[in-house]
Amino acid sequence: MKPLFAALILLMLPGFALSAWAQSDPPAIWKGVFTQAQVERGKTVLETHCVRCHAADRDRALAGEIFELHWGGRTVDRLFRKMRETMPPKQAGMVSDADKLDALAAVLEQNGFPPGEKDLTGDETMLAALRMLPREGPLPMKTGMFVEVIGCLSQDPKSTWFVTSATDPLPSSLDDPALDPQQAAAAALGSQTVQLLYPSPDPAPHRGKKVRVQGLLIRNNTPGDRINMIALTPLAADCRP
Ligand code: HEC
Repeated sequence: MKPLFAALILLMLPGFALSAWAQSDPPAIWKGVFTQAQVERGKTVLETHCVRCHAADRDRALAGEIFELHWGGRTVDRLFRKMRETMPPKQAGMVSDADKLDALAAVLEQNGFPPGEKDLTGDETMLAALRMLPREGPLPMKTGMFVEVIGCLSQDPKSTWFVTSATDPLPSSLDDPALDPQQAAAAALGSQTVQLLYPSPDPAPHRGKKVRVQGLLIRNNTPGDRINMIALTPLAADCRP
């Protein structure tokens, strides 16, 4: 058979993914979603209103590893909402939304995302489509990230608590979880087993339920991930993998 025909037949096989050949696209946030001019304006806003609490050498730096641990994998609308509604603390009205949008562009730039041709606008739908991910795509989940998993709450004979049939961990936060309550209740279970460290308050009342657990991820353990539990939310009375 001539090579061309062989290739055509391969393409026609059911389930053959063309995308296996195609160069995968970088996430949308890498396509230049703010301008350099906006970044310059934003730097002034940050210096005037934010840096006294968020200097790069403090533990609340809006760049680098701390920022990645808190915001990696999350969407820009949530970051903007955090700035718009809560910053500066108790004086959120002091800085206009337009200035905060410029500050947002500067924060994105100082975390390595590239400028482009158009200013970032406050359009929620557009901001929600921008996920803060590495250029190569999926975010490597690291020890220290605040995450959530959904699964079945269980306890082994040694009284250790686990989430079984757990989903892969997703970046999360207490006031703004990755999945809203309806999505979480309907979420398909996964295949992970996650051990819970320092589970408090006592999880016992929720044994056997479908739950969401939030906390700090601890990786590189045998057999699996652990979560230093911060919050547990029951989602359904029973849990069927
Ligand atoms: C008076 C001090 C203060 C000022 C001024 C201030 N912040 Fe904050 N900011 C904080 C504190 C404290 C936190 C951590 C608590 C929290 O998340 O609410 C925080 C958290 C944040 C976070 C989340 C950081 C993370 O790693 O998760 C962002 C983003 C942020 N601030 C942006 C801003 C911006 C933008 C401005 C200027 C418009 C600003 N802040 C001004 C004190 C301040």
